Amino acid sequence: MNGNLTFIGGGNIAQAIIGGLLETGFSPDRMTVADPSPEQGATIERLGVAWDTDNLKAVDSADLVFLCVKPGLAQTVCEALAGSLDQKCLISVAAGITTTQLKQWSHSGLVVRCMPNTPALVRSGMLGLYADPSVAAPIRDEVVACLSSVGITEWFTREADLDAVTAISGSGPAYFFYLMETMVKAAEKMGISKATATTLVTQTALGAAKMAHQNPQSPEILRQQVTSPGGTTQAACETLSQGGFDALVIEACEAAKVRSETLSSS
Ligand SMILES: NC(=O)c1ccc[n+]([C@@H]2O[C@H](COP(=O)([O-])OP(=O)(O)OC[C@H]3O[C@@H](n4cnc5c(N)ncnc54)[C@H](OP(=O)(O)O)[C@@H]3O)[C@@H](O)[C@H]2O)c1
Repeated sequence: MNGNLTFIGGGNIAQAIIGGLLETGFSPDRMTVADPSPEQGATIERLGVAWDTDNLKAVDSADLVFLCVKPGLAQTVCEALAGSLDQKCLISVAAGITTTQLKQWSHSGLVVRCMPNTPALVRSGMLGLYADPSVAAPIRDEVVACLSSVGITEWFTREADLDAVTAISGSGPAYFFYLMETMVKAAEKMGISKATATTLVTQTALGAAKMAHQNPQSPEILRQQVTSPGGTTQAACETLSQGGFDALVIEACEAAKVRSETLSSS
Protein backbone atom coordinates (compact mmCIF):
# COMPACT_ATOMS: atom_id res chain seq x y z
CA MET A 1 0.00 0.00 0.00
CA ASN A 2 1.67 3.20 -1.17
CA GLY A 3 -0.90 5.98 -1.22
CA ASN A 4 -2.53 8.35 1.23
CA LEU A 5 -6.04 7.68 2.51
CA THR A 6 -8.84 10.06 3.42
CA PHE A 7 -12.04 9.05 5.18
CA ILE A 8 -15.08 11.29 4.73
CA GLY A 9 -17.08 10.47 7.85
CA GLY A 10 -15.18 9.16 10.86
CA GLY A 11 -17.83 6.96 12.51
CA ASN A 12 -18.05 3.23 13.20
CA ILE A 13 -17.02 1.85 9.85
CA ALA A 14 -14.22 4.39 9.23
CA GLN A 15 -12.82 3.74 12.71
CA ALA A 16 -12.97 -0.03 12.10
CA ILE A 17 -10.96 0.31 8.86
CA ILE A 18 -8.49 2.75 10.43
CA GLY A 19 -8.04 0.45 13.45
CA GLY A 20 -7.38 -2.51 11.16
CA LEU A 21 -4.86 -0.54 9.10
CA LEU A 22 -3.01 0.66 12.22
CA GLU A 23 -2.81 -2.94 13.47
CA THR A 24 -1.24 -4.01 10.19
CA GLY A 25 1.43 -1.29 10.58
CA PHE A 26 -0.02 1.29 8.18
CA SER A 27 1.33 4.71 9.20
CA PRO A 28 -1.24 7.06 10.80
CA ASP A 29 0.59 9.93 9.04
CA ARG A 30 -0.83 8.69 5.75
CA MET A 31 -4.46 8.95 6.89
CA THR A 32 -6.82 11.90 7.29
CA VAL A 33 -10.40 11.90 8.51
CA ALA A 34 -12.96 14.59 7.73
CA ASP A 35 -15.92 14.69 10.09
CA PRO A 36 -17.94 17.61 11.50
CA SER A 37 -18.20 16.06 14.97
CA PRO A 38 -15.61 17.20 17.57
CA GLU A 39 -16.30 13.97 19.52
CA GLN A 40 -15.38 11.84 16.51
CA GLY A 41 -12.43 14.18 15.88
CA ALA A 42 -11.08 13.61 19.39
CA THR A 43 -11.38 9.82 18.96
CA ILE A 44 -9.59 9.98 15.61
CA GLU A 45 -6.79 12.17 17.00
CA ARG A 46 -6.31 9.74 19.91
CA LEU A 47 -5.46 7.15 17.22
CA GLY A 48 -2.73 9.50 15.96
CA VAL A 49 -4.66 10.24 12.75
CA ALA A 50 -5.21 13.79 11.43
CA TRP A 51 -8.75 15.16 11.75
CA ASP A 52 -10.32 17.98 9.76
CA THR A 53 -13.81 19.39 9.41
CA ASP A 54 -13.16 20.47 5.82
CA ASN A 55 -13.89 17.63 3.37
CA LEU A 56 -12.29 19.42 0.41
CA LYS A 57 -9.04 20.08 2.29
CA ALA A 58 -8.99 16.50 3.58
CA VAL A 59 -9.14 14.94 0.10
CA ASP A 60 -6.39 17.19 -1.25
CA SER A 61 -3.47 14.85 -0.55
CA ALA A 62 -5.44 11.60 -0.85
CA ASP A 63 -5.02 8.80 -3.37
CA LEU A 64 -7.96 6.78 -2.06
CA VAL A 65 -11.04 8.49 -0.61
CA PHE A 66 -13.36 6.39 1.56
CA LEU A 67 -16.93 7.69 1.66
CA CYS A 68 -18.13 6.60 5.12
CA VAL A 69 -21.19 8.79 5.71
CA LYS A 70 -24.79 7.64 6.06
CA PRO A 71 -26.44 6.95 2.67
CA GLY A 72 -28.78 9.95 3.05
CA LEU A 73 -25.75 12.30 3.10
CA ALA A 74 -23.88 10.74 0.18
CA GLN A 75 -25.30 13.01 -2.53
CA THR A 76 -24.61 16.29 -0.66
CA VAL A 77 -21.10 15.18 0.30
CA CYS A 78 -20.20 13.89 -3.20
CA GLU A 79 -21.59 16.97 -4.96
CA ALA A 80 -19.46 19.19 -2.72
CA LEU A 81 -16.39 17.13 -3.71
CA ALA A 82 -17.15 17.26 -7.45
CA GLY A 83 -14.16 18.44 -9.43
CA SER A 84 -11.68 17.87 -6.61
CA LEU A 85 -11.30 14.10 -6.91
CA ASP A 86 -9.39 14.12 -10.21
CA GLN A 87 -7.61 10.72 -10.42
CA LYS A 88 -8.45 9.77 -6.82
CA CYS A 89 -10.48 6.60 -6.36
CA LEU A 90 -13.72 7.04 -4.37
CA ILE A 91 -14.67 3.97 -2.32
CA SER A 92 -18.19 4.15 -0.94
CA VAL A 93 -19.51 1.99 1.89
CA ALA A 94 -22.90 3.75 1.78
CA ALA A 95 -25.56 1.05 1.47
CA GLY A 96 -27.73 1.27 -1.64
CA ILE A 97 -25.83 4.11 -3.36
CA THR A 98 -24.98 2.96 -6.90
CA THR A 99 -21.82 3.63 -8.90
CA THR A 100 -23.94 5.56 -11.43
CA GLN A 101 -25.06 7.91 -8.65
CA LEU A 102 -21.53 8.19 -7.23
CA LYS A 103 -20.07 9.05 -10.65
CA GLN A 104 -22.83 11.55 -11.44
CA TRP A 105 -22.57 13.33 -8.06
CA SER A 106 -18.77 13.31 -7.63
CA HIS A 107 -17.75 13.69 -11.30
CA SER A 108 -15.21 10.93 -10.60
CA GLY A 109 -14.95 7.94 -12.90
CA LEU A 110 -12.94 5.90 -10.43
CA VAL A 111 -15.57 4.57 -8.07
CA VAL A 112 -15.76 1.40 -5.99
CA ARG A 113 -18.66 0.18 -3.88
CA CYS A 114 -18.07 -1.82 -0.74
CA MET A 115 -20.68 -3.64 1.35
CA PRO A 116 -19.11 -4.42 4.72
CA ASN A 117 -20.76 -5.95 7.77
CA THR A 118 -20.56 -5.20 11.48
CA PRO A 119 -17.98 -7.95 12.30
CA ALA A 120 -15.55 -5.59 10.53
CA LEU A 121 -15.54 -3.84 13.92
CA VAL A 122 -13.74 -6.92 15.35
CA ARG A 123 -11.58 -7.50 12.22
CA SER A 124 -13.77 -10.43 11.11
CA GLY A 125 -15.77 -8.65 8.46
CA MET A 126 -17.01 -9.88 5.10
CA LEU A 127 -16.70 -7.17 2.47
CA GLY A 128 -18.33 -7.45 -0.95
CA LEU A 129 -16.75 -5.19 -3.58
CA TYR A 130 -17.76 -3.90 -6.98
CA ALA A 131 -15.61 -1.57 -9.09
CA ASP A 132 -16.60 0.57 -12.03
CA PRO A 133 -14.87 -0.95 -15.11
CA SER A 134 -12.64 2.15 -15.34
CA VAL A 135 -10.87 1.22 -12.07
CA ALA A 136 -7.61 -0.46 -13.07
CA ALA A 137 -6.22 -3.60 -11.39
CA PRO A 138 -3.46 -1.79 -9.39
CA ILE A 139 -6.07 0.50 -7.77
CA ARG A 140 -8.31 -2.50 -7.02
CA ASP A 141 -5.32 -4.15 -5.36
CA GLU A 142 -4.77 -1.04 -3.20
CA VAL A 143 -8.44 -1.11 -2.16
CA VAL A 144 -8.17 -4.78 -1.19
CA ALA A 145 -4.91 -4.13 0.69
CA CYS A 146 -6.74 -1.53 2.83
CA LEU A 147 -9.96 -3.39 3.41
CA SER A 148 -8.32 -6.76 4.11
CA SER A 149 -7.27 -5.26 7.43
CA VAL A 150 -10.85 -5.67 8.70
CA GLY A 151 -11.90 -8.91 7.04
CA ILE A 152 -12.17 -10.96 3.90
CA THR A 153 -12.85 -9.22 0.58
CA GLU A 154 -14.60 -10.59 -2.48
CA TRP A 155 -14.99 -8.84 -5.84
CA PHE A 156 -18.24 -9.11 -7.79
CA THR A 157 -18.43 -8.45 -11.52
CA ARG A 158 -22.12 -7.47 -11.51
CA GLU A 159 -23.14 -4.51 -9.36
CA ALA A 160 -26.58 -6.05 -8.81
CA ASP A 161 -24.89 -8.87 -6.86
CA LEU A 162 -24.24 -6.38 -4.05
CA ASP A 163 -27.97 -6.67 -3.22
CA ALA A 164 -27.42 -10.40 -2.59
CA VAL A 165 -24.27 -9.60 -0.59
CA THR A 166 -26.33 -7.17 1.50
CA ALA A 167 -28.95 -9.88 2.08
CA ILE A 168 -26.46 -12.59 3.04
CA SER A 169 -23.37 -11.09 4.71
CA GLY A 170 -24.47 -7.47 5.22
CA SER A 171 -27.60 -8.32 7.21
CA GLY A 172 -26.42 -11.85 8.03
CA PRO A 173 -24.92 -11.15 11.48
CA ALA A 174 -28.41 -10.19 12.70
CA TYR A 175 -29.82 -13.57 11.54
CA PHE A 176 -27.21 -15.38 13.64
CA PHE A 177 -27.90 -13.04 16.59
CA TYR A 178 -31.62 -13.82 16.20
CA LEU A 179 -30.98 -17.58 16.32
CA MET A 180 -28.69 -17.09 19.33
CA GLU A 181 -31.30 -14.93 21.06
CA THR A 182 -33.94 -17.64 20.55
CA MET A 183 -31.63 -20.41 21.79
CA VAL A 184 -30.98 -18.38 24.97
CA LYS A 185 -34.77 -18.20 25.46
CA ALA A 186 -35.01 -21.98 25.00
CA ALA A 187 -32.28 -22.60 27.59
CA GLU A 188 -33.99 -20.26 30.06
CA LYS A 189 -37.24 -22.19 29.54
CA MET A 190 -35.28 -25.32 30.53
CA GLY A 191 -34.30 -23.65 33.83
CA ILE A 192 -30.82 -22.35 32.93
CA SER A 193 -29.97 -18.79 34.04
CA LYS A 194 -29.79 -16.14 31.30
CA ALA A 195 -26.08 -15.52 31.96
CA THR A 196 -25.17 -19.21 31.68
CA ALA A 197 -27.49 -19.66 28.67
CA THR A 198 -25.75 -16.76 26.92
CA THR A 199 -22.33 -18.34 27.56
CA LEU A 200 -23.52 -21.72 26.26
CA VAL A 201 -24.96 -20.18 23.10
CA THR A 202 -22.17 -17.70 22.37
CA GLN A 203 -19.39 -20.26 22.79
CA THR A 204 -21.33 -22.77 20.66
CA ALA A 205 -21.78 -20.19 17.88
CA LEU A 206 -18.08 -19.30 18.02
CA GLY A 207 -17.03 -22.97 17.94
CA ALA A 208 -19.41 -23.83 15.08
CA ALA A 209 -18.24 -20.81 13.06
CA LYS A 210 -14.58 -21.75 13.66
CA MET A 211 -15.21 -25.34 12.55
CA ALA A 212 -17.04 -24.19 9.41
CA HIS A 213 -14.29 -21.65 8.71
CA GLN A 214 -11.39 -24.10 9.16
CA ASN A 215 -13.05 -27.07 7.48
CA PRO A 216 -13.14 -27.43 3.71
CA GLN A 217 -16.34 -29.45 4.02
CA SER A 218 -19.71 -27.77 3.61
CA PRO A 219 -21.88 -26.81 6.62
CA GLU A 220 -24.26 -29.55 5.46
CA ILE A 221 -21.57 -32.24 5.89
CA LEU A 222 -20.52 -30.81 9.26
CA ARG A 223 -24.15 -30.97 10.40
CA GLN A 224 -24.52 -34.55 9.20
CA GLN A 225 -21.31 -35.52 11.06
CA VAL A 226 -22.76 -34.38 14.40
CA THR A 227 -26.20 -35.85 13.77
CA SER A 228 -26.36 -39.47 15.00
CA PRO A 229 -29.39 -41.41 13.78
CA GLY A 230 -32.11 -41.31 16.45
CA GLY A 231 -30.09 -38.90 18.61
CA THR A 232 -30.74 -35.49 20.15
CA THR A 233 -29.41 -33.40 17.27
CA GLN A 234 -31.57 -35.30 14.80
CA ALA A 235 -34.64 -34.64 16.95
CA ALA A 236 -33.92 -30.90 16.87
CA CYS A 237 -33.01 -30.70 13.17
CA GLU A 238 -36.11 -32.69 12.13
CA THR A 239 -38.27 -30.30 14.15
CA LEU A 240 -36.66 -27.33 12.38
CA SER A 241 -37.04 -28.92 8.98
CA GLN A 242 -40.66 -29.96 9.52
CA GLY A 243 -41.42 -26.42 10.74
CA GLY A 244 -40.23 -24.99 7.41
CA PHE A 245 -36.82 -23.72 8.59
CA ASP A 246 -35.11 -23.95 5.16
CA ALA A 247 -37.92 -22.21 3.28
CA LEU A 248 -38.24 -19.52 5.96
CA VAL A 249 -34.52 -18.67 5.95
CA ILE A 250 -34.47 -18.51 2.14
CA GLU A 251 -37.59 -16.32 2.18
CA ALA A 252 -35.98 -14.02 4.79
CA CYS A 253 -32.80 -13.60 2.71
CA GLU A 254 -34.89 -12.88 -0.38
CA ALA A 255 -36.89 -10.24 1.53
CA ALA A 256 -33.61 -8.53 2.49
CA LYS A 257 -32.44 -8.63 -1.15
CA VAL A 258 -35.70 -7.09 -2.40
CA ARG A 259 -35.40 -4.35 0.26
CA SER A 260 -31.82 -3.66 -0.82
CA GLU A 261 -32.92 -3.43 -4.49
CA THR A 262 -35.67 -0.99 -3.50
CA LEU A 263 -33.22 1.20 -1.54
CA SER A 264 -30.77 1.20 -4.48
CA SER A 265 -33.45 2.31 -6.96
CA SER A 266 -35.09 4.99 -4.76
N1 LIG B 1 -21.51 0.07 10.51
C1 LIG B 1 -21.53 -0.96 9.67
O1 LIG B 1 -21.19 -2.10 9.99
C2 LIG B 1 -21.93 -0.78 8.23
C3 LIG B 1 -22.26 -1.92 7.46
C4 LIG B 1 -22.60 -1.71 6.14
C5 LIG B 1 -22.59 -0.44 5.58
N2 LIG B 1 -22.30 0.63 6.38
C6 LIG B 1 -22.33 1.96 5.78
O2 LIG B 1 -21.28 2.75 6.32
C7 LIG B 1 -21.68 4.11 6.30
C8 LIG B 1 -21.27 4.72 7.62
O3 LIG B 1 -21.87 3.97 8.69
P1 LIG B 1 -21.37 4.17 10.18
O4 LIG B 1 -22.02 3.11 10.99
O5 LIG B 1 -19.89 4.30 10.19
O6 LIG B 1 -22.05 5.62 10.49
P2 LIG B 1 -21.66 6.65 11.62
O7 LIG B 1 -21.01 5.98 12.77
O8 LIG B 1 -22.88 7.50 11.86
O9 LIG B 1 -20.53 7.57 10.93
C9 LIG B 1 -20.81 8.54 9.97
C10 LIG B 1 -20.01 9.79 10.33
O10 LIG B 1 -20.13 10.74 9.28
C11 LIG B 1 -20.19 12.02 9.88
N3 LIG B 1 -20.70 13.02 8.98
C12 LIG B 1 -21.96 13.57 8.91
N4 LIG B 1 -22.00 14.49 7.94
C13 LIG B 1 -20.77 14.55 7.37
C14 LIG B 1 -20.21 15.33 6.33
N5 LIG B 1 -20.94 16.23 5.64
N6 LIG B 1 -18.92 15.14 6.02
C15 LIG B 1 -18.17 14.25 6.68
N7 LIG B 1 -18.66 13.47 7.68
C16 LIG B 1 -19.95 13.62 8.02
C17 LIG B 1 -21.08 11.77 11.08
O11 LIG B 1 -20.99 12.85 11.99
P3 LIG B 1 -22.30 13.14 12.92
O12 LIG B 1 -22.44 11.98 13.83
O13 LIG B 1 -21.93 14.41 13.62
O14 LIG B 1 -23.46 13.31 11.98
C18 LIG B 1 -20.50 10.48 11.61
O15 LIG B 1 -19.41 10.72 12.48
C19 LIG B 1 -23.19 4.14 6.04
O16 LIG B 1 -23.41 4.65 4.75
C20 LIG B 1 -23.62 2.71 6.11
O17 LIG B 1 -24.60 2.42 5.12
C21 LIG B 1 -21.98 0.49 7.69
